Amino acid sequence: MDRHLLSASDLSSDDAALVLDTAEEMRSVAERPIKKLPTLRGRTVVNLFFEDSTRTRISFEVAAKRLSADTINFTAKGSSVSKGESLKDTALTLQAIGADAVVVRHHDSGAPHRLAHAGWIDGSVVNAGDGTHEHPTQALLDAFTMRRHLGDLKGRRIVIVGDVLHSRVARSNALLLSTLGAEVTLVGPPTLLPVGVERWPVEISYDLDQALAKCDAVMMLRVQKERMNASYFPSAREYARRYGLDTRRMALLPEHAVVLHPGPMNRGMEITADVADAARSLIVEQVTNGVAIRMAVLYLLLSGAPPDSRLRDGGGLDGVENDHEPAIAGAAEEGAS
Ligand code: NCD
Repeated sequence: MDRHLLSASDLSSDDAALVLDTAEEMRSVAERPIKKLPTLRGRTVVNLFFEDSTRTRISFEVAAKRLSADTINFTAKGSSVSKGESLKDTALTLQAIGADAVVVRHHDSGAPHRLAHAGWIDGSVVNAGDGTHEHPTQALLDAFTMRRHLGDLKGRRIVIVGDVLHSRVARSNALLLSTLGAEVTLVGPPTLLPVGVERWPVEISYDLDQALAKCDAVMMLRVQKERMNASYFPSAREYARRYGLDTRRMALLPEHAVVLHPGPMNRGMEITADVADAARSLIVEQVTNGVAIRMAVLYLLLSGAPPDSRLRDGGGLDGVENDHEPAIAGAAEEGAS
C-alpha cells in the first residue's frame, strides 16, 4: 500500500482485499473484553477536522486508541484556523509536534492531496472526507459490511441512490466497488448526478423500483441540504416519493438484499424511520465496522519502521522499549497488561 490513503482509486484489488481481511482481524479484537493492541504505541495520530463529523471522527479516534497510538483531536472551531491560519501553517505545526499520521476532513475537495504532496509533513495522510470529492474509508467500511452479509462482492449488484452530486461517499464507493468486481448502478434525479458521471465505472438509472428488484444491496445517500445553493427538486415530499426508500419499496428487494446508509440520516426524506430500523438495515453495523476498517488502515499505513529507529541507530536512546511490530493475533494479551 501507498504511504497515504487519499482516494479509493489508490487501492488495487489486492490492497483492498488486504484492508478488508485485516479489518476482519481487527473486528475480532473489538469482541474481546479488552479491546486494545500495542501495535502503534509511541505513534501519534492527529485527527484534523475542518468540517463537522460525528461517526468518522469518533471512529478514527477509537481506532487509533485501540492500537495504543497517542491521539490528538484538532477541530477548526476553537483553533487558530478561526484566526485565519492557513492549511500550510496548521500542517507545519503538526509536523513540528511529530505527527505520524494526519486524518483530515476538509470542506475543500483536494485538501488532503495538498497536505500529502506539498512537502509540509512527513507522516501519512488519510482522507476522512474532502468536500464533495472522496471518502475512501467510508467506502471500505461499506464494502466490508456488505462482504460480511453477501460474501465476495464480485458480480454483486449494488444500487446507490440519491444526492450523488454532493456525495464523496458515492464516488469512493463507485471506485472501490468496481475494483472489487461489483456492478454499481446510480439512481437519482438528473439534477443530482454530477457532470462527467458517464465516465464513472457505473450504470445510471432513473427507475428506482426496477433497480431495487434485482440488487443485492441498496445504499441510500443523505440529501445534503447544506451544500445546496439552488433548488434541485420540487419539494422534500416529491423527492421522498420518487427516490426515498419506504416499506413498499423495501418489499421489492430480493430476500437476501441489505440496506445501507452512511449517516447522518434525514429520516422521512431519503429513508423512512421503519426502513432505517428494519432487520435488513445495516446502518448501525456500518458504524461498528468503521472502527475495524480504520484500525486496519492505520495499522497498514503506520506499522513500518519504528519512529525512534533513527535515534536508536545513532545510539542515542539505549534501552528504549521497541516492540512496535507484534503480530496482530495474540498481541491483545500484551496490550491487556
Ligand atoms: C458522510 C460524509 O460526511 O461524507 N457521512 C459520514 O462520513 N458518515 C455522508 C454525509 O454526510 O451524508
